[in-house]
Amino acid sequence: MKGIILAGGSGTRLRPLTGALSKQMLPVYDKPMIYYPLSVLMLAGVREMLLISTPSQLGMFEDLLGDGSRLGLTVEYAAQDEPRGIAESLIIGADFIGDDQVCLVLGDNIFHGPRFSKLLGDSVANLDGCELFGYRVSDPSRYAVGEIDDDARLLTLEEKPARPRSNLAVTGLYMYDSDVVGIAKNIAPSDRGELEITDVNRAYLAQGRAGLTELGRGFAWLDMGTPESLLNAGQYVQLLEQRQGERIACIEEVALHKGFITPQQCRRLGEEMAGTAYGAYVCAIAERPSPHTPAG
Ligand code: G1P
Repeated sequence: MKGIILAGGSGTRLRPLTGALSKQMLPVYDKPMIYYPLSVLMLAGVREMLLISTPSQLGMFEDLLGDGSRLGLTVEYAAQDEPRGIAESLIIGADFIGDDQVCLVLGDNIFHGPRFSKLLGDSVANLDGCELFGYRVSDPSRYAVGEIDDDARLLTLEEKPARPRSNLAVTGLYMYDSDVVGIAKNIAPSDRGELEITDVNRAYLAQGRAGLTELGRGFAWLDMGTPESLLNAGQYVQLLEQRQGERIACIEEVALHKGFITPQQCRRLGEEMAGTAYGAYVCAIAERPSPHTPAG
């Protein structure tokens, strides 16, 4: 399975924070925002990634992540010239996806919860058509909203409905089979002029090939569109990391536990950040005798 991270947009609601910096590069407590969705793809077992951003911001991500080899990944880069919708990322990534399955994640979504790695692995193993990930929220009108049956098959799906039929929001994490490129190429722009990912998902729904895995209330799903939600996400990460002594979305740790890098490589990555608490953590992880699966 391939992975796409969409880190585009102009971040207008976060100005002036985003005046010269990509939104997905902003700090969420102790690491750049992009680490969180990147770690989700890694937890799903994905090693080949395509990062899509605006032409002016791509260079920043290349400086941060390079070709991915330090984490045992391959990371490629592509530009989205205009914000023409989430689904356009699947057209931009058509050659990259090829005949493979693909997992798409939005660059400003944080997921954290118990046994997340297992949940993602099961979804990859059982993928038939498309798999969405849902989360019950108090304000579903801001999102795509779905209804599911007892077998977690999707029954209805609407984008930002004024009168939502449930409180089950569709998060910014999507898994697709290789039909997705053809489907994305066939949808028309919406009233807001964008290729909507919800229209791609509705095409799978029409074929009866759309599932939705509900992330239970023990999970955290946070998106960061405003200064308040950005700060809240940072406070969430700080609170749990200080309490537990474990880091959320530490990409070096995930790479080690997934077997993408060796303990020696992990230690070297930590040593490069010597003098920081983060670097010390990465070094300590490398010394742990038996890896455990991080929560996400
Ligand atoms: C986008 C999708 C929406 C989804 C949401 C999750 O919303 O269009 O279906 O529920 O991400 O973060 P947008 O960022 O376009 O408002």
